[in-house]
Amino acid sequence: MRRLFFIAVIAAIFSMVLFFQLGCSEEGTAKTKTQEDMIDIGKYIVHTSGCDNCHTPKIFSETGFVLDTTRLLAGHVQNEVLPSLDVTALGQNTWAATTIGLTVWVSPWGISYASNLTPDNAGKVLAKK
Ligand code: HEC
Repeated sequence: MRRLFFIAVIAAIFSMVLFFQLGCSEEGTAKTKTQEDMIDIGKYIVHTSGCDNCHTPKIFSETGFVLDTTRLLAGHVQNEVLPSLDVTALGQNTWAATTIGLTVWVSPWGISYASNLTPDNAGKVLAKK
C-alpha cells in the first residue's frame, strides 16, 4: 500500500513537471508583437470601447451630431463656449449633466473635460511651462 502511494506521488510530481514544461514551451513560441500589431490592438480597443463618444468633438450634420473626423480623440475643444446650466438640479443621488457633444461632464465633483488623447507634442511643451 505504501509503495502504491509512493508511485502515485512520483507520478503526480512528474505530471506537474511535464505540464509546466509544456506550458513554458508554448509561451516561448508566442509571436512577439510588432509596433503595427500594438497600434492595431489600440485601434480595436478604442473603436470597440466607445472612447470617441467622449474624446472626439462633434459637429452637427443633417443626420444629427457626428464625430468631427478632423479632430479624432482631440478631447474637449478648449475655446468652445458652453451653454448656461441650472446647477441646482445637480447633486448626490440626483442628477449629473453633459453637453450634447459629451465632451463636458458636470456633477457635484465639478466639471470634467474629456482629455486630448492624441500625441499633441505642442500641447505637452506648453503644459510644462
Ligand atoms: C463617458 C465619457 C468618456 C468615455 C466613454 C471615455 N472617456 Fe476618457 N475621459 C473622460 C473624461 C471626462 C476625462 C477627464 C477626466 C478628468 O479630468 O478627471 C477622461 C480622461 C481620460 C484619460 C486621462 C488623460 C489625462 O490627461 O490624464 C485617458 C487616458 C482616457 N480618458 C482614455 C480613455 C479611453 C482609452 C477610453 C475608451 C476605452 C475613454 N477614455 C472613454 C470621459 C470619457
